[in-house]
Amino acid sequence: MRITIFGTGYVGLVTGACLAHSGNHVVCVDIDEDKIARLTRGEIPIYEPGLEQIVHESVASGRLRFTTDAADAVAHGTLQFIAVGTPPDEDGSADLKYVLKVAQTIGEHMNDYRLVITKSTVPVGTSDKVRAQLASAVAERGVDVEFDVASNPEFLKEGAAIDDFMKPDRVVVGVDNERAAEHLRALYAPFNRQHDRTIVMDIRSAELTKYAANVMLATKISLMNELSQVADRVDADIEQVRRAIGADHRIGYHFIYPGCGFGGSCFPKDVRALGQTAAELGYEAEIINSVERVNNRQKSVLFDKLRYHFGGDLTGKTIALWGLAFKPNTDDMREAPACTLMESLWAAGARVRAYDPEAMGETRRIYGERDDLTLCTDGETAATGADALVLVTEWHIFRTPDFDALAGLMNTPVLVDGRNIYKPSYVAQAGFAYYGIGRSAAS
Ligand code: UGA
Repeated sequence: MRITIFGTGYVGLVTGACLAHSGNHVVCVDIDEDKIARLTRGEIPIYEPGLEQIVHESVASGRLRFTTDAADAVAHGTLQFIAVGTPPDEDGSADLKYVLKVAQTIGEHMNDYRLVITKSTVPVGTSDKVRAQLASAVAERGVDVEFDVASNPEFLKEGAAIDDFMKPDRVVVGVDNERAAEHLRALYAPFNRQHDRTIVMDIRSAELTKYAANVMLATKISLMNELSQVADRVDADIEQVRRAIGADHRIGYHFIYPGCGFGGSCFPKDVRALGQTAAELGYEAEIINSVERVNNRQKSVLFDKLRYHFGGDLTGKTIALWGLAFKPNTDDMREAPACTLMESLWAAGARVRAYDPEAMGETRRIYGERDDLTLCTDGETAATGADALVLVTEWHIFRTPDFDALAGLMNTPVLVDGRNIYKPSYVAQAGFAYYGIGRSAAS
């Protein structure tokens, strides 16, 4: 099939590369000339395992190309995906100006049937706005061209995006006629394993499904984080509790890991946006709104534990951070708990020494050069001379350190384990004071 993708951000690029890889002819279009020039040279602007290889293979095979020429892009694909950003407004609702601009562009250039599919995460009702924008752009030209609109939200996880696309749990397709449904069923047929993964539904339900999935997952995390706060106060160990409740199939083990709060570009933004949508319609979404409040509070848990350990005064202390990205296998720092921690530490007069396998460049970009931030070449160097070490992001490389050696490098052996990845008794043997999340009873 011939596919056009508007937007070469995270979603657009992964989608374009994976669809080209499965045999389609894909054109990715973006208004950012520099980005398109870099992509054409084979440079991948984001860190995503496996992406570079499939982009290079698809470009070499002639099935994937990049352009800034909108007319060329609209002429190419029968299927036109909108995968541009929807940055949050001040009130948390998604800003649709880029999405609607793309709809306008498609309407201005299309000369025969087009299926216009929204992949960006957009509020319920956006497809109607896309349809109206297309219709008015086409009408303005005085031509009569047929088109359909569809919603096809993405469920990719950063760091596992290629696998998520190639082996989806489900593909959600929101349409209002059989012609559009058939195009999308055919497009996604190569990704059905064992059974049909495509779930066809009406457009508004598809739009809501995206938010519902993320809000459900974010709620699980916030609820676990809240339980960890209770566990701390009643002297219980949340990790033992987690293993026991996860064994109940109705609860399950996924996404019940307590930690220092969720971050990233999706959960915080989507939780906020759905609460906002509900509020606009006169419904106060109590649980959804609390998910964000609980998460914001949880992001200060690492700082609170450090402050507790040092008797309320962190002035002049040096704190080592292992991990800065909001989760492993990404360089993304958006809404990362590490940002909350560093900013609180600096405000309290402490200094930070940090190491992350991928996110150091991003950290430098956000915070610049400053005396109270030292970015180190590895975890051991970061810990050297530190008064406490905080595990913020559970990268694989941090899983099994030599705790005896580590204790020797540090000024005082204090460990705050923001993801509960270490065994408290093991760490204690090396002389560390250990603080986990909701594990005051752990040993
Ligand atoms: C999330 C969803 O998982 C994807 O399905 C969705 O497509 C994507 O948002 C999106 O809307 O684009 P992502 O933001 O990449 O994906 O990251 P996750 O792997 O879901 O992790 C989110 C955050 O939750 C991380 O900060 C992680 O550390 C935290 N987390 C996750 C926990 O604190 N506990 C858990 O048990 C699981």
